[in-house]
This record gives sequence, C-alpha cells and structure tokens, in this order.
Amino acid sequence: MDRIVILDFGSQTTHLIGRRVRDAGVYAEIVPGVSAVESWYDDTVRGLILSGSPFSVYDENGPKPSRSLFDLPVPKLGICYGAQYAAHLFGGDVTRSETREYGPARVVSNVDDPLFETIPETFESWMSHGDAIAAGPSRGETLARSENGAIAAYSFPEARFTGLQFHPEVSHSQYGSTLLANFARRLCGARAEWNVERYRAEIETAVQKSVGDRTVLLLISGGVDSTVVAALLLRALSPDHVHLMYVDTGLMRRGETGEVRETLASLGARHLHIVSAADRFYGALEGITDPEKKREIIGNEFIRVQEREIRGAALPSDYLLAQGTLYTDLIESGHGVGRHANRIKSHHNVAAPMVVEKRDRGEIVEPLANLYKDEVRRLGTALGLPDSIVGRHPFPGPGLGVRVIGEVTRQRCDTLRHVDSLFISELRERGLYDEIWQAFAVLLPVRAVGVAGDERAYGQIVALRAITSVDGMTADVYEFPPGVLRSISARITNEVPEVGRVVFDVSGKPPATIEWE
Ligand code: XMP
Repeated sequence: MDRIVILDFGSQTTHLIGRRVRDAGVYAEIVPGVSAVESWYDDTVRGLILSGSPFSVYDENGPKPSRSLFDLPVPKLGICYGAQYAAHLFGGDVTRSETREYGPARVVSNVDDPLFETIPETFESWMSHGDAIAAGPSRGETLARSENGAIAAYSFPEARFTGLQFHPEVSHSQYGSTLLANFARRLCGARAEWNVERYRAEIETAVQKSVGDRTVLLLISGGVDSTVVAALLLRALSPDHVHLMYVDTGLMRRGETGEVRETLASLGARHLHIVSAADRFYGALEGITDPEKKREIIGNEFIRVQEREIRGAALPSDYLLAQGTLYTDLIESGHGVGRHANRIKSHHNVAAPMVVEKRDRGEIVEPLANLYKDEVRRLGTALGLPDSIVGRHPFPGPGLGVRVIGEVTRQRCDTLRHVDSLFISELRERGLYDEIWQAFAVLLPVRAVGVAGDERAYGQIVALRAITSVDGMTADVYEFPPGVLRSISARITNEVPEVGRVVFDVSGKPPATIEWE
C-alpha cells in the first residue's frame, strides 16, 4: 500500500498531519524524525512530511534529521520547523526570534503549484512559530506570502521540497485538509488505498497470528475503544479464549453497567467478569476533596481490584493483555514514536505496573494502535456495533470522580448521575448529541439559595458543559439553539429535587480544560 511517512520532531500537532492525510484516503505513518532512513524507507513510500517542533533550528539539542533523506526520490513537505530546517540547510535565511507568533494570518499565493490547486488565492492560515524564514534556499521559489510580506511557502525543486511556515493540519487553517490532500495525491501521486473496512480484515488476521491459541484478557471501560477491541477479539478469535473484565467503580454513568453487559453479551462474549466494587471506591474516597489525591486513589483502587480479580479468574500464566490503545495515545505518552514528543496526558493506563510488565514480556495486544479515534468509530461500525455505541462521547477513566467536585459519595454520585442522564437524553431526543463532541454535568461543592414553594432553600448547583472539538486538545463551547438550555435546566430542577440551580460553562479550551476536576 502507498504510504506517506511523517517525520516527527515533537510538535503537538504531528498526529493531526497523519489524520488529515488518512482522511484523504492515503495511509500515513509517523516515525521519529531522527530515525535512520533505512528503518522506514522502502518503495511503498510516496512522500515525506517533516513536522513542526518546539525547538529552533539553532538549538544544539534540537532534532537533526539525516541529510540523506533530502536525496530520496519522493516529494517532501516541511511544516514550520521542517520548512525552517530545510531553508537553513540549503542556504536560506532563518531569523531567530525569542517571541512566538501565534494565531491566524492571511496568506496569498498567486503561483501555479499543485499544492494550492482548488484553493483560493487568499486564505486564512494558522501560524505558531518563533523563528521565521527571511529567505528560502537561493535556488528555490517563493510560493506564498503572508499579508505582511513574510514567506509563508517556498519550493526547492532540487530536493523536491516544499516548505510551509503555517500549520495546514490544524482545523483553524482554511483549506489545510485540501492542501495536505493535494500534497499526498497530486504531488506524490499516492493512491487512496486506505480505508478502515479494508483494514478490518488485516487487523483480524494480525490478531489471530499474534494470539494463536492463547487466552486474551481485555479490561473494558464501557467506552468506544475497549468495546471496539472486544468486538474485534470476539470476531477474530474463539470466544472461549476471550476474557472481558469490567469494574463497576460506582463512578459510572446511569445504566452503564447494564448496557456494557448487554452489548458484550450480544457480541457473543462467554467469559464476562463484571466486578461490583462501588463500596470499595466510595470507602477509599471518603473525606477526600483534593483532585489529585482522588485521581491517585481511584487509580490505585483500580489496579488493586483488577489484580485481585485477574488472579481469581485463574487465567493461564501466558495470557495476553489486550488494550484499546490508540495511535494518539502512543504519540502522547512518548511511546513508540517521536522521541521528542511532549507528554501531554498522564492519565492513560499505559503505565500501570501490570501493563508495563506484560508489555516488557511482549504479552500485549493493541489492535487499534495504528488508528485514530474517528477510524476506530468507523471500524466499530464495520464490526456491526450500533451508532449509540460508536458515537458515544468520551468519558474520563476516573469517571464521575473528576465530575463530582469535592467529596465523592454515593449520594452525590447518584445526584450527578440523575442530572447527567437527563441532560444526555434531552440532547439525544433533540438530535443534538452528535453535533456535540462531549457533553456532561458537573456537581459543584457549593450551594445557592433558591425558592421551593414559599420557602427559601439551599439547593445544590450543577454545571452543564457541552463542547465541540476535533480531538479534545482544544475545544469551543457548543452554541445551543435558543431556549434549549432553559428548558433542559427546568427539567433538571423539576426532576432532581436536590438541585436548585443549573449553570452553563461558557469557557473554551484553552484557557479552561474540558473536565472541571
Ligand atoms: P481535559 O479535561 O484535559 O480533557 O481538557 C481532554 C479529554 O480527555 C478526557 N480526560 C480523561 N480521559 N482519563 C481519561 O481516560 C482521565 O483521567 C481524563 N481526564 C480528562 C476528557 O474527558 C476529555 O475528553
């Protein structure tokens, strides 16, 4: 299959480049930017993309890709650092800057180039850079400038190289997807051979091969990723060899445990271990209000319960552990790709001792590790999972533990569960659920005065959050149609007697995060 290789120099948006190229139907793979050319180059590679980086080309310890990759007989695209690096290498002028230029910039391109085909002459791009390209390589050509005259794109035909100062991969860059698709399809001539349905058969065979007739254990969270892995394992392997374990921590959403049981049974699960551990979690969380402490307790309890249950399940000693790790998880936790990638999330279970041990022994199966979230959803559909499961909003590992602010008790979780289920069912009934990337309710640790009948009453306050996003790294507040929030709020205060007030969170990310904690 034709491939585009992305050399990662540690930019936080590298994985978005891969995603956009795959959206164009072309298989894209991310490799550490400084790895040896021979470790990834073969005759299926149709083009290279050099990513951005937190480093400057003048940094001693910045990533320095192999000089020989510029001799490879395929088109290359440098984005930000990638473009600056090539300009610097081929006699251009990169000016050092201590301050970063960050935000939208209009770009004008009036040169005929396949990269800009079907894109208007002037468009809005997204900049995020310190250093700037004052001059491209002397035997190169400027393809686009920003409105203030700075070089926004150049070509250097000798190395079949095009450099972009802006980031076409971020959603704020107009025509960014078209530009990356133009690169992959028109400039590189890569064939659009990548689709998840085709990949499904490949993954199934790979899973069968790596598992053989061993037993596999999968820890289920109720979310999309682990459910898709369950569907895949149950289809690819004999269900007798597949053990599924789900821990009800008491921090799940309303009805979740029942739904998980039903879904997995309908997929043909034979060894389903549903562990009721709510009391244990509530007990451990008693009196704790510090968010980090709560996370730590929940994480530790999880590991203890799982280890106890796994021992009790009496699995053969060489059992394999399956995980719903995604491509982005690997990138974000610095495993496998981009040694310069920054660690962003610390909450992935990639580091649990049991997982580390299994990984060290090579006893792990991660069938989604090449896929992006939206591809996992499509794979789920291809495996016959209903839309209500594949389209589910993300839910954090520590569950309501991060959404009940202050002390986590059964009673407070019950209140929040009730509110959350009303909010979500309203969104589904109104056909808004799929327009929103993530929606949920948060229970606050303060009360506010209200009137109940003729009395003044101090009721609880819940905050509703609804955001749109591409991947959860940034988020915008979802704009509700007029009147909707008001009627959802009325329903909540009518049906949940403990709640006296409903507020709506109007903060984007940044500066806020999606969860409250
Ligand atoms: P934040 O709050 O960091 O969230 O803007 C970004 C996305 O990550 C989810 N999230 C978590 N997911 N374990 C998870 O598995 C966690 O501890 C966790 N904290 C946040 C959050 O729901 C959002 O989708």
